Amino acid sequence: MTKKRDSLPAEDRVGTNGRASVPRFGHGSRVPGWDEAVDLRKDPADVPDPATVPVPPQLRAEIEAHMAKYPDHRSAVIAGLAAAQRHHGWCSPEAIDQVACVMRLTPGYLVSIATFYDMLENQPVGRHSVYVCTNISCSLCGAEELLAAMEEATADDPDFNVRHFECLGACDIAPMASVDGVYVGPISLDEVPTLLEQVREGAPVLPAKQLTQRAVAEPLAVLPKGPTTYGGRMPEEALGPPAAIEQEPIGPAEGSKQSNEKAV
Ligand code: FES
Repeated sequence: MTKKRDSLPAEDRVGTNGRASVPRFGHGSRVPGWDEAVDLRKDPADVPDPATVPVPPQLRAEIEAHMAKYPDHRSAVIAGLAAAQRHHGWCSPEAIDQVACVMRLTPGYLVSIATFYDMLENQPVGRHSVYVCTNISCSLCGAEELLAAMEEATADDPDFNVRHFECLGACDIAPMASVDGVYVGPISLDEVPTLLEQVREGAPVLPAKQLTQRAVAEPLAVLPKGPTTYGGRMPEEALGPPAAIEQEPIGPAEGSKQSNEKAV
């Protein structure tokens, strides 16, 4: 049985940075949360100086491309942090500084977001993410046993980041997992070693059980032609029109008041 956080002795409740951790979920919720207190003795960090914070050109280009999509560039914060996480493996202080530098925001603002969204990692993790859904449909189909088997099989492998997750929206393939972004299910316990071996080899995981390979009712749906590793990009022909926010602004209609005023 999991030990409740509140029942831990005080010395076990110290975070990785040496500061006291915050027992936010004293009722024993499995939801991880806000675990480290802010160090109020430190001065707030300023927006980093571009002259002293080198940013890898590819990362800078990716963040700037996200910023260009929105009228308020802060709307691109999550995408910017995700890009930095892909580059560094986690939202390290260095990664946060680089995003802050490009986006002209304070590191504190970015940390407040990186610590809220749980797919943004605030500690180093294994490069392969295995999110086992343990929400109701998956739980009824043996998700806890599946998670335990995954954790046991990867206990000595630092390359894996195995964790439970709330509903991933693929309840019809329960019990399922997102393996490096690829939805797979239903996964039986005896398939766990094969799945993990495929991840290690960089091969598609359980190809016949990937969500993208299932039949769909929509006759016009365009799906990837084969099984994928790491997410698999949606085929170009399946992409819809750009979101309204990405479209060129439409000028005033012919004959409208505004265009008449211009003509005068
Ligand atoms: S409950 Fe597992 S995907 Fe919905």
